[in-house]
Amino acid sequence: MQDAGVIDAAENTVSGERQKKVFVKTYGCQMNVYDSQRMADALAADGYAATDEIENADLVLLNTCHIREKAAEKVYSELGRIRQLKAERAKSGRETVIGVAGCVAQAEGEEIMRRAPVVDIVIGPQTYHRLPDAVRKARAGGRVLETDYAIEDKFEHLPRPRPAAVRGRGVTAFLTVQEGCDKFCTFCVVPYTRGSEVSRPVAQVVAEAERLAESGVREITLLGQNVNAWHGEGPDGRQWGLGELLFRLAEIPGIARLRYTTSHPRDMDDALIAAHRDLDILMPYLHLPVQAGSDRILKAMNRRHTAADYLRLVERIRAARPDIALSGDFIVGFPGETEADFEATMQIVRDVTFVQAFSFKYSPRPGTPGAEMDGHVDEDAKGERLQRLQALLTEQQQAFARGLVGRKSDVLIEKPGRAPGQWVGRSPWLMPVILDEKAGEIGDIVDVRITRTGANSLFAEAM
Ligand code: SAH
Ligand code: SF4
Ligand code: F3S
Repeated sequence: MQDAGVIDAAENTVSGERQKKVFVKTYGCQMNVYDSQRMADALAADGYAATDEIENADLVLLNTCHIREKAAEKVYSELGRIRQLKAERAKSGRETVIGVAGCVAQAEGEEIMRRAPVVDIVIGPQTYHRLPDAVRKARAGGRVLETDYAIEDKFEHLPRPRPAAVRGRGVTAFLTVQEGCDKFCTFCVVPYTRGSEVSRPVAQVVAEAERLAESGVREITLLGQNVNAWHGEGPDGRQWGLGELLFRLAEIPGIARLRYTTSHPRDMDDALIAAHRDLDILMPYLHLPVQAGSDRILKAMNRRHTAADYLRLVERIRAARPDIALSGDFIVGFPGETEADFEATMQIVRDVTFVQAFSFKYSPRPGTPGAEMDGHVDEDAKGERLQRLQALLTEQQQAFARGLVGRKSDVLIEKPGRAPGQWVGRSPWLMPVILDEKAGEIGDIVDVRITRTGANSLFAEAM
């Protein structure tokens, strides 16, 4: 495979032609963040430099999310603005190629083509390695719809992340190890937008992690819609699970911290729980969505576990790693949810205690079984329940932060802060930590004492 790292974008400028620029706007989850970077890498190999200013871009890519109605709607309103931009630029003879990628592209590709003539390219998440080709076709005047699930492995065909670009990105990085989902929770579009579960092989993951480490990355977050369902053939010919993979990645020189997200409670196996016990560099923080606390609703959601199963699992994880902090996702107002069902969600939150959480009103998604169910909850009731749930979750989050004051913690130094002299680091619990003095170089892990809490951050002093 060609090493994209040796191609200097400037060198690629065709004589006389201005350096082409790409603007990527990312919506949705971390997997989209990762994909946006890989798309930028693929385009860099084709001579495109990344820009943060849409006005300067020759190629505009929207990497979209379909998870809730609001997320999907954003695309069309953004395309309205882009239509004007493209028209303005056309007046001065400048061409602008517009592409829609991500989960809305996959779910509504043909509709986008129909509703938004401004769009030149619609490309689904499984076919990003074909993006440079699609851009060439669009520049030649065509419109391209690429939403077939590719038979080839996109990861094999995408250029490896460029060391220079990775270096610029900082000391933490995402690494997608698993894509797609076979779980079919009845509220969720992911199995339809990302296809069935695919794991990347051990060797591919290790090679990418080594490259990130060589570029100065200290903390890697393994990503997957169902990351703990990851399994792959190891060099010994056996099937490995995520626990084993984490141990292997921990051996890579330079890597000081590991995380993974998002996990499904059903895939937390013994080996993974043991990794939390035995692997110090696996951070004591776990995103483990439960969605709801009522068994009836969990069943209707097809989560395939009960509230008691979840509580037992949390107990086992905490037995392995007593200081682990949990975060979660919640949906309120799933069809059929009564006040008593909602109270069960409040109760599981009280029983578990989350340090961070994302909670949403149920949004019926076309094509999912939930959308067809009886007993849709009205929006006011959803809103009111969401408020109560968020008040409880915020209280827990703040109590956790307050409990850290006076305690020692390790912090990964990430970047200078906003105020002069300030530095920002990352705590084991993902919360940013603000330091008033330079306690180390970027990429160092230093010991600090937490002095007070901020709105969404912690303040600390070097020890
Ligand atoms: N694979 C993860 C979730 C990925 S989607 C898991 O199984 O936990 C991220 C979150 O979006 C979900 O956890 C859920 O809380 C929320 N979500 C998904 N579909 C939704 C819908 N239709 N309405 C509201 N929230 C939804
Ligand atoms: Fe969606 Fe459920 Fe799969 Fe998570 S496990 S991505 S919620 S279908
Ligand atoms: Fe959204 Fe697709 Fe991620 S629907 S949450 S961008 S997998």
